[in-house]
Amino acid sequence: MRPPVIARTPGDVLDATLGAVTVGLVPTMGALHEGHLSLIRRSDAENDDTVVSIFVNPTQFNDPDDLTRYPRTPDADIALAHEAGARIFYMPAVETVYPAGFATRVHVEGVTERWEGASRPGHFDGVATIVSILLNQLQPTRAYFGEKDFQQLAMVRRMHRDLSLAGEIVGCPTVRDPDGLALSSRNARLSAEERAAALVLPATLFSLQTQAREGNDDVSALTEAGRALIGVEPLVALDYLAIVDPETLEPAATLVPGARAIVAATVGGTRLIDNVPLRPVEPS
Ligand code: PAJ
Repeated sequence: MRPPVIARTPGDVLDATLGAVTVGLVPTMGALHEGHLSLIRRSDAENDDTVVSIFVNPTQFNDPDDLTRYPRTPDADIALAHEAGARIFYMPAVETVYPAGFATRVHVEGVTERWEGASRPGHFDGVATIVSILLNQLQPTRAYFGEKDFQQLAMVRRMHRDLSLAGEIVGCPTVRDPDGLALSSRNARLSAEERAAALVLPATLFSLQTQAREGNDDVSALTEAGRALIGVEPLVALDYLAIVDPETLEPAATLVPGARAIVAATVGGTRLIDNVPLRPVEPS
């Protein structure tokens, strides 16, 4: 495999990918785990070259403490991602992305209003802004995002269509630990007891999935059943559990194709999110 290239400017990335016909981009904030690596492997399988951006994007943190506490492990990230098939690492300085005088925010209406958008004011504007900058700077053939952050993926798809941004957006399934917990850099903050309690989240989502598969299509009954299951776990404070339309993220009145159960809860001091599909997406 060719050695890794560290790129600090968009020009460095474009120079490094000159010979490639297809280029995959995997945007990340680093602290890479198997979830990120699954996106990188998919990109490696589908493109001549894979670029991973590692950039802890200050504009998407509504809590300054969260930004300073965010784990930064660049050497380990480069080693793991290179092993998974990435060759180029775009690791710009904050001033390269947001030079003095930067004054633009990208806001996607509708899909960002509820759920994570309501809990984290400004967060999605920061994500929309950085993702549009990365797609414009790097012009990838394909860009890879995880279903783990389902509302983020839906927002990126909406923005990509609305602004005719470069390439194709590819959504990738959530990677879980064997016990079901969705991988997240935040899991490291859970105590053993909290981690055990957090398993109620995937267990509840899987239960709803089974009930839907067995023919229960009553959205309010499913939602109530899910909330009751989580209510049993005293260490888990539910923020929301809802069944939503996969494109608009509006609450679904019926189990439309692609309908998604989404959940957010705080376990100890750690906020976790997860989701599963309840109905297959209709073939297009
Ligand atoms: P980050 O949290 O580093 O995640 C990078 C990508 O990895 C996202 O697309 C996310 O959905 C995906 N991912 C995280 N955990 C996953 C899992 N368990 N299974 C599958 N995919 C998973 O999301 C961001 O960074 C930022 O908002 C970003 C898009 C990079 C913009 O700054």
